[in-house]
Amino acid sequence: MSDGQIPLKDTTKVPGGHGLLQSIFRNSLGLGLFAVFTVGLISVTWVSTHERIETQVRAYEAKALMEILPADTHDNALVDAKILLEPSHLLSSQEQREAYIALDDGEVSAVILPVTAPDGYSGRIELLVGIHRNGTLAGVRAITHKETPGLGDKINTNVTDWILGFAGKSLGNPITEGWGVKKDGGEFDQFTGATITPRAVVAAVYRALQYFEANRNLLLDPLRMTGIREEIQYGQ
Ligand SMILES: Cc1cc2nc3c(=O)[nH]c(=O)nc-3n(C[C@H](O)[C@H](O)[C@H](O)COP(=O)(O)O)c2cc1C
Repeated sequence: MSDGQIPLKDTTKVPGGHGLLQSIFRNSLGLGLFAVFTVGLISVTWVSTHERIETQVRAYEAKALMEILPADTHDNALVDAKILLEPSHLLSSQEQREAYIALDDGEVSAVILPVTAPDGYSGRIELLVGIHRNGTLAGVRAITHKETPGLGDKINTNVTDWILGFAGKSLGNPITEGWGVKKDGGEFDQFTGATITPRAVVAAVYRALQYFEANRNLLLDPLRMTGIREEIQYGQ
């Protein structure tokens, strides 16, 4: 290098090329194993969390059933008396869902319908809506939702009593115009700074009453407690 230039490195020849391949292989294997381990860990966490949430939802649902229809209103075990409802736009259900049947002396005294309010502030609000055989509401409870704490979560009975206000109401009480929040000219209170959640719940409860009315004979017939199919269109 008499002219003072720095010699260029020959990149075509890798010293110890065999070792480099081994190193790449080792690193790839390490990364692969790490990925498999991470995916496995996430899966195990998801399954156990999912199961725990499911158990909590079931427990909450069982508690809600007994609150809506206390033991002295029926003589059967509600959790054991379930019927399958076909998908229905009135219940906002896309798949078959289970409803609970309360019996009193061999007669259906009330039903508890699973109802979705699809238009909550943060998505779906799952409700249980209890309806006496005469069409009056036994009670409503929110089972799962993602509404905002301090705003939309006032539909929970451990936050406010708002949802208890449905008991005793029916399709004709109030009349159709009353089935909305006060801000929309209806009878039900909205929450301060939160109208979307109660609006969605009021509308869903009203649709549940319409569903009950449309399927009354099937729902109240203890001998036909399976395969109830909604044939009447919403609004008809
Ligand atoms: C972060 C955040 C969370 C909110 N959460 C809710 C909620 O859970 N339920 C609700 O009804 N409104 C919620 N609101 C308020 C709504 O955006 C809306 O302003 C309110 O429901 C009033 O609706 P209205 O203008 O139709 O009367 C939230 C607003 C913000 C900024």
